Amino acid sequence: MSTFVVLGASGTVGRELAQGLEAAGHEVRRTTSRTPAAGQVHLDLVSGRGIDEALRGADGAFLLAPPGFTNQDVLLTPVIDAARRLGLGKLVLMSAMGVDANPEAPLRKAELALEASGVAWNVMRPNWFMQNFHTYWLHGIATQQAILLPVGEGRTSFIDARDIADVAAALLQRSEFNNRAFDLTGGESLTHAEVAAVLSRELGQTIRFEDLTVDEARPLLLGAGLPADYAEFLLVILSYIKAGYSERITDAVPSILGREPRRFTEYARDYREAYPKAVSAL
Ligand SMILES: NC(=O)c1ccc[n+]([C@@H]2O[C@H](COP(=O)([O-])OP(=O)(O)OC[C@H]3O[C@@H](n4cnc5c(N)ncnc54)[C@H](OP(=O)(O)O)[C@@H]3O)[C@@H](O)[C@H]2O)c1
Repeated sequence: MSTFVVLGASGTVGRELAQGLEAAGHEVRRTTSRTPAAGQVHLDLVSGRGIDEALRGADGAFLLAPPGFTNQDVLLTPVIDAARRLGLGKLVLMSAMGVDANPEAPLRKAELALEASGVAWNVMRPNWFMQNFHTYWLHGIATQQAILLPVGEGRTSFIDARDIADVAAALLQRSEFNNRAFDLTGGESLTHAEVAAVLSRELGQTIRFEDLTVDEARPLLLGAGLPADYAEFLLVILSYIKAGYSERITDAVPSILGREPRRFTEYARDYREAYPKAVSAL
């Protein structure tokens, strides 16, 4: 049995990862930046509080930067430094597909700090999550029965967050893939119109895709409460979908897990209850 620290353990990937590691018989420290409840430990990447306490004596850790921030290197470097100082055996960082194209991108700087740390590492660079449709993009689906995004007909090899968690669990527990980065994708590339068709079928109601201009999308993101700099960052990376950069399919999930990634249809079926009854009732 090993002890693993999971950052973002209440989040989309971290929740699944923490459960998976426990099911495999490991001890899991679930971190939170809030007042910890039973079973959680405090670690705040913004203030830096709790880092040493959370990591001390652990065998490995899963790292992510919370969404909403554009200074991921500043947030994560103290954790990487502490892991080296405290002798952790393995760090797995969830980054994002495409960040290695720009050495100045803050998330890329965090990757480079990890690679230079001397601690055994993996970087996972997932493509866009399937789960975004019942979280970030849910408002438009629930209120206008529409996916409202400036992404045109660009295809995306969406990945199920449960597959990301399965890969993270494998990388934390196994050493044969050490010191490598993986672009994680699903096994099919869909347009957002095709996603709308799958959701319509699985939820039993017509959901449209509406292609927005960047200027139409900006107020929606700001209205959802995103900080202005993060909204601009999102608009830039959404434009990469339109440009075709999110279409690529990799074999990372099958090569690490020995099985195919989940398909979008499976996601839609499994998360039907996460959509409001008004959407899923028919
Ligand atoms: N969504 C996508 O399509 C996509 C694609 C590629 C990469 N990613 C990457 O995935 C990451 C997000 O993963 P996710 O969706 O699993 O997370 P999530 O569901 O958005 O949850 C965020 C987690 O961060 C924790 N958190 C918030 N503020 C924090 C702080 N100050 N210090 C420490 N932890 C804090 C939250 O827990 P508490 O509130 O309890 O602290 C929560 O567990 C981002 O780095 C993003 O770039 C996302």
